[in-house]
Amino acid sequence: MQCDTTKATDAGRQPDGLLVLRTLTMPKDCNPNGDIFGGWILSQMDIGGGLMAKEVSYSRTVTVTIEKMTFVRPVHVGETVCIYANVLKIGNTSMDIKLEVWDKDLTEEFEEGRHLVTEGLFRYVAIDEEGRSKRIPDNPKFPREALAG
Ligand SMILES: CC(C)(COP(=O)(O)OP(=O)(O)OC[C@H]1O[C@@H](n2cnc3c(N)ncnc32)[C@H](O)[C@@H]1OP(=O)(O)O)[C@@H](O)C(=O)NCCC(=O)NCCS
Repeated sequence: MQCDTTKATDAGRQPDGLLVLRTLTMPKDCNPNGDIFGGWILSQMDIGGGLMAKEVSYSRTVTVTIEKMTFVRPVHVGETVCIYANVLKIGNTSMDIKLEVWDKDLTEEFEEGRHLVTEGLFRYVAIDEEGRSKRIPDNPKFPREALAG
């Protein structure tokens, strides 16, 4: 799934997926080096992925796993962080969602100011009121069969 609101970026890549979250980095989000704290970035990814998971499953969801992540560049205060989500697989009760984080300096040219920060694969599980996993109903916007494989 390609997002058609973006243009060419780092090494020919462009963000993959739906833009689920866009926010401004603030001084309170910094680590002791003065860059944005990785844990803050991770939490933004989880929020964005969780929103996508709810939309897919029409349910409350929880995060069950996060696969290996690599931070490829630091984020600085005042940059805009954009989270893109791509649903890779819908299981019986779980969803695998690939998340990408891109930063953007809004004062630079659109093509120049956008960089990949990190990416990761998150698995969410739909839960009922008691917190037990529950089957994800069919959703015409995210057909299981089209994602299988
Ligand atoms: C997620 C949770 C509900 C799963 O409970 P469970 O009893 O293991 O449920 P199930 O065995 O029915 O598994 C549910 C789904 O999760 C997947 N799953 C469970 N544990 C997993 C693991 N360690 N790795 C990968 N997938 C896992 C199963 O494959 C299954 O997917 P499927 O139905 O699409 O095949 C439970 O482990 C939980 O509540 N964990 C805490 C979640 C949390 O607090 N997250 C942080 C805050 S959001």
